[in-house]
Amino acid sequence: MLIKIRPATERDLDYIIAINIECLPEHYPLSFWIEHLTKFDDTFYVAEIGEKVVGYILTRIEEGTSFFQHDKKVKKGHIVSLAVREGYRGRGVASYLLSTVLGVLSKTYDVFEAYLEVRVSNIAAINLYKKFGFTIIQTISEYYLDGEDAYLMAKQLK
Ligand SMILES: CC(C)(COP(=O)(O)OP(=O)(O)OC[C@H]1O[C@@H](n2cnc3c(N)ncnc32)[C@H](O)[C@@H]1OP(=O)(O)O)[C@@H](O)C(=O)NCCC(=O)NCCS
Repeated sequence: MLIKIRPATERDLDYIIAINIECLPEHYPLSFWIEHLTKFDDTFYVAEIGEKVVGYILTRIEEGTSFFQHDKKVKKGHIVSLAVREGYRGRGVASYLLSTVLGVLSKTYDVFEAYLEVRVSNIAAINLYKKFGFTIIQTISEYYLDGEDAYLMAKQLK
């Protein structure tokens, strides 16, 4: 079935929040989603299959010291949340969302690198990010509320 990727809108928020609750232990208040829609609307995308929202990716633009060139301050794309509904996985939806966002980060925002945090047990997501050229930069001890460690993974876009 055809996968359509488009920018998220306020009308998608109920679906996005439902997918977030269904797929991830990290949840956010409504203000968080609205803030990202307002500030970073062109790095916040949904995936539709048959006009149903089945996944989303939320990213924000930040500045900070590069993970690759340690003395350099750079613009970064932080992939904050990505999820695909269970029945729609394994069809390339996350890959399509991620490649769309990486393209926008690079072309529209001219970011130097993209990064994210992922649970060390989340093999599916780690494989996805590795497939896109992300590498593990460091392990962040007890990053998650339940005590699990995170890998910080990053990819240089320039
Ligand atoms: C991780 C997630 C987003 C992947 O979504 P998806 O649409 O199924 O991913 P894709 O079909 O685009 O798969 C791309 C690659 O990811 C990896 N991958 C995806 N599912 C996998 C699985 N179950 N086991 C191992 N690797 C997997 C593979 O490398 C795959 O490439 P391949 O098909 O060539 O083997 C999805 O499983 C999900 O929503 N999980 C719950 C939420 C989550 O963990 N989000 C990420 C938080 S950091």
